[in-house]
Amino acid sequence: MRDRGERFRVRLGALALKTLKRVMPDPVRPTLRRAIEEADVALQQLDSVRRASRLDPAGPLRLNLGCGSKPRPGWVNVDLRPGADLHLDVRRPLPFPDASCAEIYAEHVLEHLAYPGEVEQVLADWFRVLASGGTVSLGVPDTEWPLRAYVSGDDGYFAWCRTQPWHRDWVRTRLDTINYHFRQQSPTFGEAHLYAYDFETLADRLVAAGFVDVARRPFDPAFDSEDRRIGTLYVRATKA
Ligand SMILES: C[S@@+](CC[C@H](N)C(=O)[O-])C[C@H]1O[C@@H](n2cnc3c(N)ncnc32)[C@H](O)[C@@H]1O
Repeated sequence: MRDRGERFRVRLGALALKTLKRVMPDPVRPTLRRAIEEADVALQQLDSVRRASRLDPAGPLRLNLGCGSKPRPGWVNVDLRPGADLHLDVRRPLPFPDASCAEIYAEHVLEHLAYPGEVEQVLADWFRVLASGGTVSLGVPDTEWPLRAYVSGDDGYFAWCRTQPWHRDWVRTRLDTINYHFRQQSPTFGEAHLYAYDFETLADRLVAAGFVDVARRPFDPAFDSEDRRIGTLYVRATKA
């Protein structure tokens, strides 16, 4: 019943936003488009929260959060995109009980969350759902490499970026590349980069959320995506 009321309110809000978008001047429209997307995410969230409550896993949950097009068999794969088991917004509390998960994996996801404001709450919630002894395993774009390359004049990083599928033609100068690393400007929901990490910064966020034994880990070919082998900082941490 509460769900239905909330669904009705969100739908009504989305309708009002769509109407506004039609009458507002151009500079206002991207913000309204973004708000309409947020309303759509809120509706997906309502459906998936209900579906999550019906999950009946054989053992403790293993969550692959922000799975994109790489769902893992045997894991609960979460993303807002098609292909996920649950279309949940990872910025909201996960619909799982405290201490119900054995493992959380998130590859190239945290950089899409804002700091301050979002990432602290998200990591605190991941800590909540993990059981004692559970681990979080994260991969984020490695920001040390581009910064060192920019300062030292080493072209290796910039040449590598130009060969990547995510390279954009409008990224022309070395500083364009640095900007793209930090921001990954994109109108698509969940694609822009909102923060950049080195080990010190990511470890700080994890420790603040309560994690211990925070350490870099090497790329694991049995586990991590091959296209992330270069340029990713991998970190593992534990809930004591
Ligand atoms: C760069 S992709 C990484 C996908 C995959 N993990 C990989 O390594 O290829 C980031 C993913 O995070 C998802 N994402 C971003 N913000 C999200 C949010 N608030 N809730 C759920 N998923 C989100 C995006 O939809 C996207 O699939």
